[in-house]
Amino acid sequence: MERFVIEESRNLSGTINVSGAKNAILPVMAACLLAPGKSVLRNVPSLIDLKTMAHLLRVIGARVDYEKGSMSIDSRDVCYGEAPYELVSKMRASIYVLGPLLARLKEARVSFPGGCAIGTRPVDLHLKAMEALGAKINIEHGYIHAVADKLVGADIYFDKSSVGATINALMAAVFAEGRTRMFNAAMEPEVDSTIDLLNKMGADITGKGSTTLIINGAENLFPVEMSMIPDRIEAGTFLVAGALSLNPITVANCEPEHLRSLLDKMQEAGCEFEIEGDRITVIPPARIKPVNLLTLPYPGFPTDLQAQFTVLMTLAEGVSFVEDTIFPDRYMHVAELNRLQANIRMERNIAAIKGVKELSGAEVMATDLRASAALVLAGMVAKGKTVVSRIYHIDRGYDRIEEKLNSIGARITREDA
Ligand code: EPZ
Repeated sequence: MERFVIEESRNLSGTINVSGAKNAILPVMAACLLAPGKSVLRNVPSLIDLKTMAHLLRVIGARVDYEKGSMSIDSRDVCYGEAPYELVSKMRASIYVLGPLLARLKEARVSFPGGCAIGTRPVDLHLKAMEALGAKINIEHGYIHAVADKLVGADIYFDKSSVGATINALMAAVFAEGRTRMFNAAMEPEVDSTIDLLNKMGADITGKGSTTLIINGAENLFPVEMSMIPDRIEAGTFLVAGALSLNPITVANCEPEHLRSLLDKMQEAGCEFEIEGDRITVIPPARIKPVNLLTLPYPGFPTDLQAQFTVLMTLAEGVSFVEDTIFPDRYMHVAELNRLQANIRMERNIAAIKGVKELSGAEVMATDLRASAALVLAGMVAKGKTVVSRIYHIDRGYDRIEEKLNSIGARITREDA
């Protein structure tokens, strides 16, 4: 197992590049099952989660090739509708094959995803949407078994805003006879990019960027080529690194529009920005101001940046409160940050963070993807040496994070534990 050894590195400068968005690519890979033939996705980084999805698509009968940031998915011979436990247990996003398989093969068996380090994560909204479209769902032997003679357009109301359920329902509904309307749909950029891909393939989806989506059933979809959107969470992680640095840094190849909520909160904390096209230069504050934060569905502040923003607040001059309303138990990083001499107290599901003068290096353990990114940032500002173990979590969603951060002055070494 590998680990990061991190020396204090606040003297950052230069430009750091953002890769394609993992959470936009995962559903788009599954959507390629809907269009028999070879689709090509560009701006695809080399990430463990994307390899896991590629493996799953191959199990289902697709051919997936990857070379230098370009992934081709040939779904002509897809004939087998099962996502086995072995893969779904590794990555919850495997549930994304449910909608496309049901739409294309009229039957799917997908292992029921369990909980994970960030808390209980049900799939009831995914199943409710499939049922509304006419699927019969049985849960048997740990598997979701969905069957439909035909799918018929319907009204689907989501009790809660869910990225995954919105995308899965969209993919199931593209061939449904007649019109489907979705209310309280998620508006995250990853939903929009899936809509863009499906429409490019020939689907008829309107309402992008709003909570009401309308889908008119199509007969067929056709393979396409598309470039993936930049990863707003990776960009946000680098922007927080910039806020913790002593000098300005520039985050390039990002979409500033997707980062509004983070930029707003960082501004409250005292940061300034220069934005030019797809580049954001962050000018760190001389003193970090405390900021209260609630995570919310897009365009609210993303839960996937909560842990990283918490690191910034550990050094603020005063007390801040951070509450994750999306995943109320997503605080595994708190105990680890306290090992680095942060002062964070959990009050029920709210983190009360009392700023300290400095963090101090120690051995800490990564528990999930974003918590790991937070520990890397904390290690970069902590005095002395920090060792972050179990970094396989970070490789799931960040492409060579240590190389990228080292290119702007960080001192991070990957080594075998
Ligand atoms: C996506 O997960 C992301 N994953 C997560 O990123 C991200 O944290 C999350 O959206 C929220 O933005 C991928 O895109 C692969 P949800 P998803 O359905 O779709 C509840 C990362 O670090 N809910 O929007 O699974 C759920 O419990 C990962 O990259 C139900 O109650 O999240 C949560 O409270 C971690 N029933 C809320 O909705 C359901 O059927 C939003 O979850 C589905 C969800």
